[in-house]
Amino acid sequence: MKALIIYFSQTGNTKKIAETIKKGILKSGNMCDIAPIKNVNINLLESYDLIGIGTPTFFYREPKNVLNFIQNLKETKEKHCFIFCTHGSLIGNTFYHMNEELSKRGYIVIGTFDCYGSSSIQFYPQPMHTEGHPDEIEFMEATEFGENICEINLKVQNGQMNLIPQFELISKTWWALQSKQLTVEVLKKISPKFNINLDVCTKCLTCQEACPTNSIDVEAEPPEIQKEGCISCWYCEKVCPEGAIEADWSMMEKASKSNLIGYIEALKEAENQGKFRPYIDYQNIK
Ligand SMILES: Cc1cc2nc3c(=O)[nH]c(=O)nc-3n(C[C@H](O)[C@H](O)[C@H](O)COP(=O)(O)O)c2cc1C
Ligand code: SF4
Ligand code: SF4
Repeated sequence: MKALIIYFSQTGNTKKIAETIKKGILKSGNMCDIAPIKNVNINLLESYDLIGIGTPTFFYREPKNVLNFIQNLKETKEKHCFIFCTHGSLIGNTFYHMNEELSKRGYIVIGTFDCYGSSSIQFYPQPMHTEGHPDEIEFMEATEFGENICEINLKVQNGQMNLIPQFELISKTWWALQSKQLTVEVLKKISPKFNINLDVCTKCLTCQEACPTNSIDVEAEPPEIQKEGCISCWYCEKVCPEGAIEADWSMMEKASKSNLIGYIEALKEAENQGKFRPYIDYQNIK
């Protein structure tokens, strides 16, 4: 059996999990290719028996570039796939929405894997509440997931439809309400406007190459940033080695402080259920 793992990863957590799942698949005696989402040729997907799609959670669901990718997939007939995700405190409806879009194109989701990931959101109080994740246990679980997923694929092919996961849309929580409001258009309004300081910018292209949606053109006159298609992932500002991308984070800082209480509550609940292990003292988050 030959699998293809496709992933989007901003700060490396999802990439590490993708590589670990691949190790598991290879360990199970199956073949596996892996590719970042930007490099995937969707015409080649049919030549694989199983497709894996991995993403971080952004704003309680899959980021818009991942949604666009799924929506551009060619229609297929009952092709099996698995989905995986790394997230901070709240995975939200990430799997629900991915499954919804994939099933519209004829894909059947036969398995899911998710784990925590330390974020690096620039306006968040530090240290990040999920620091230290994914941890050794999560890497072990991801390997096991990879080892088992090809066998599950065969079982479903042989009629064990009860193995197919079901997804429920969660809509009555504060974060679910927030996720409905945080459309790309709203994010565009509340996000700070980025400015490239031309006295500092060396035109190294780091931001342009890192942008998941090709929304930066440093070589334009004047340089353009947050162009049409920008999903407010704020990565460009983070990766600029010169600190040339200027932004006023004061509004976002205020908003993040009130959300933090909810995030820590969610982590404490997950800890009680044995799903999360804290590596920092929440009292030290400033
Ligand atoms: C713009 C942005 C939005 C995010 N939104 C959420 C969220 O809604 N829920 C959550 O649990 N984590 C959220 N996170 C945290 C990431 O999902 C988490 O850090 C993930 O592991 C990052 O994966 P990566 O390193 O592969 O990019 C967000 C991170 C960013 C940068
Ligand atoms: S990463 Fe910074 S220095 Fe490099 S091109 Fe972008 S803005 Fe300029
Ligand atoms: S322009 Fe910046 S904030 Fe917008 S999508 Fe690209 S990297 Fe993300």
